[in-house]
Amino acid sequence: MARNKIALIGAGQIGGTLALLAGLKDLGDVVLFDVVEGVPQGKALDLAELAPVAGFDATFAGTNTYDAIGGADVVIVTAGVPRKPGMSRDDLLAINLKVMEQVGAGIRKYAPEAFVICITNPLDAMVWALQRTSGLPAMKVVGMAGVLDSARFRYFLADEFGVSVEDVTAFVLGGHGDTMVPLVRYSTVGGIPVPDLIRMGWTSAERIAAIVERTRNGGAEIVNLLKSGSAFYAPAASAIAMAESYLKDKKRLLPAAVRLDGAYGLRDIYVGVPVVIGARGVERIVEVDLDPAERAMFEKSVASVEGLVEACLKIAPDLG
Ligand code: APR
Repeated sequence: MARNKIALIGAGQIGGTLALLAGLKDLGDVVLFDVVEGVPQGKALDLAELAPVAGFDATFAGTNTYDAIGGADVVIVTAGVPRKPGMSRDDLLAINLKVMEQVGAGIRKYAPEAFVICITNPLDAMVWALQRTSGLPAMKVVGMAGVLDSARFRYFLADEFGVSVEDVTAFVLGGHGDTMVPLVRYSTVGGIPVPDLIRMGWTSAERIAAIVERTRNGGAEIVNLLKSGSAFYAPAASAIAMAESYLKDKKRLLPAAVRLDGAYGLRDIYVGVPVVIGARGVERIVEVDLDPAERAMFEKSVASVEGLVEACLKIAPDLG
């Protein structure tokens, strides 16, 4: 059986890490695409030279033309520019929206059967735009944010309780930004919900509130430490988990930004909710019960995503 093909659009910090993880996890052959000449080729060669040491047979190709992504099974998009000092949110939106137009056209032409995972920020608006510009079915175009946000939440909880990260489950709803909704009630250690652990004296409500806040600011915390650039290891690993669930039809239940067309009372908006990812893409959207406080936080988060989409539509009305 032929190996799967994974196309990475954007060969920057996350793109390079995605390629490395795809190789190490034997997910398939990798094509790195970037507009900068030499960078995808250089990273591909470096990774090909790593393969004999790590012991896998995937091939790596670097390219500056879209035809090389032809027939890809999975496309992961990190193309774009990060926000720089002095740049407004709308400036960033305008630049990355243009990038999504180019990337969408490339996917539409050369990889229309692929499962597409967008990572470029502002995430919820960019994945919405990418689904529009690529013309792929919504169940095949998702945004990676929830796996990362919940991984951060899980790590902080495991650290608080002094237990293995493996035994902590957590999930985060809503947009990828400081309005995200980490759901304490649905987060557990070995199956025990966090509110029960508070009652059992393992921690306090105040400490959990601080962890929720740290999760919301998880991206900014790393940006402040790195000084230039943003997180890349955990974002790459998160997208790879989603790609693996699709390629191996694992049907994992993961939080992802998906287009809602009725679920949660919302329509035609991409926002983070729990979904089942399998060979057909997004196979199921899971609608969990929200209490009034959670619903209010979720609605606030949705409103902020709607604001971003409106800003996109002002710049590119034809996407409407
Ligand atoms: N087409 C393809 N690639 C592009 C384009 C384009 N039109 N415009 C820029 N790029 C490439 C850049 O040349 C760069 O190599 O996208 C890459 C982005 O890489 P980095 O700047 O290293 O950013 P990275 O840390 O990988 O993050 C990528 O993910 O988490 C988000 O906010 C983050 O939007 C950012 C994205």
